[in-house]
Amino acid sequence: MSRLDLVISGGTVVGPGWVAETDIGVSGEKIVHVGSLASASAEKIVDARGKIVIPGGIDPHTHYELYFMGAKPKETWDIGTIASAIGGTTTTIDFAPQEKGESLLAATKKQMARAGQLSVIDFTTKPIISDFSDMGRVMRGMKETMEYGVPGFKVFMIYRHQGWMADDWILFQVMRRAKELGGIVTIHAENGFIGEGMQEEFVRDGKVEPRYHGQAKPNLVENLAIQMAVNIAEITGARTYIVHQSTREGHEIVAQYRLRGLPVFVETCPHYLVLTDETFDPPERGIYYMCSPPLRKKEDIEALWSGLIVGKIQTVGSDHVAFTKSQKEEFAGVFTKIPNGFPGSEVRVPIIFYEGVIRRGMSLARFVDVVSTNAAKIFGLYPRKGVIAPGSDADLVLIDPNREHSLNAENLHMGTDLSVYEGMSIKGWPSMTILRGRIIVENEQFLGKPGIGKFVKAQIDEQILHSAR
Ligand code: URP
Ligand code: ZN
Ligand code: ZN
Repeated sequence: MSRLDLVISGGTVVGPGWVAETDIGVSGEKIVHVGSLASASAEKIVDARGKIVIPGGIDPHTHYELYFMGAKPKETWDIGTIASAIGGTTTTIDFAPQEKGESLLAATKKQMARAGQLSVIDFTTKPIISDFSDMGRVMRGMKETMEYGVPGFKVFMIYRHQGWMADDWILFQVMRRAKELGGIVTIHAENGFIGEGMQEEFVRDGKVEPRYHGQAKPNLVENLAIQMAVNIAEITGARTYIVHQSTREGHEIVAQYRLRGLPVFVETCPHYLVLTDETFDPPERGIYYMCSPPLRKKEDIEALWSGLIVGKIQTVGSDHVAFTKSQKEEFAGVFTKIPNGFPGSEVRVPIIFYEGVIRRGMSLARFVDVVSTNAAKIFGLYPRKGVIAPGSDADLVLIDPNREHSLNAENLHMGTDLSVYEGMSIKGWPSMTILRGRIIVENEQFLGKPGIGKFVKAQIDEQILHSAR
């Protein structure tokens, strides 16, 4: 074998369908060998004994630099993606909001150009379809965007005031078109008519504290929307992906359809797996915990873990929006006005490792499926991303299972002073992150420079998609 650029030696490697103490050889940006490399020579050898080596995390849900509900995070793409890399993520799938009058392709290209200047990890996106005034244009835009290499789209069933809420007929048309083109529709599933209707009633009655967030949008508001979305998925045959599912019932609804072979997938988020609606009180603290769907109950948390472990939930997305404390405080008077969303991209992989693998006995294989492989399979990045195999990009993360880490904002690197996990500590943290053969993080020190991340063209493969479980 010719001289390698990099060897990762003796780690516990989580490969596709196997876990073994072995070596990985890298040449240029690619993995070229998996297996013993005892006699190989290399420019650099990383001793990975005692570490767990996984394919770089793929975050299927971030919102870097999103302007939303009157606020825009101060965190820029470089700061946000450095934090993601420190936390073990090497590819992100963001969202490109379409402005009114803008084509889907223009929105997509604009965001990918911005990411190209600053991102330190590889990236792609999904345009948020939000100009419904000319659906012919939307249909054309979907085709153009897919030809550009972005096969996923995002539709919201709520957020009327943001101008994003699509009705059932719009959703139907988008999903039918996605089926025709071979794309996938990702859906924020909350019934906007009832959820926002109830929100208005609470506010009208002077019930404006954060605790009413969960009461205005109880489980059934999300479940109703999920049911509608999967029914339209069945009528149209569209590949469908429910984002940030939070209820104990939601993935069970979807599982019935998956059992019949429908290409419907579910994502949850670390915060729904850890935090409850008890955080809403006292109101001074509750304002920081406004996200949608709302945080739920302890029973939901355990049901989501079970769904994730047994394969009814396929991915974990961070839903990262790096609002600061003061940005939440600015809108504190009425819970419906507080910008929704949390920072979370840095802690996504470590929280699933600690809460899943260490505390709940989740297998390493399943851990890798939900933080990396399945997102690659669903969004058309596999096998370039999401797997440790010859020919794949050498995106690798070494996790030190014994490293303890506080989740206080001062110990994290996201561009915000807010951590919704303040006071929590976990065990297991990445000690090294490698992007396409280059060590970009070592012991939480970022070693690269802004702009080293690349846009990854994607195309969904039917068979690969169905292997996401
Ligand atoms: O509360 C959330 N999830 N904010 C970000 C936007 C979205 O709905 O995904
Ligand atoms: Zn959403
Ligand atoms: Zn989101």
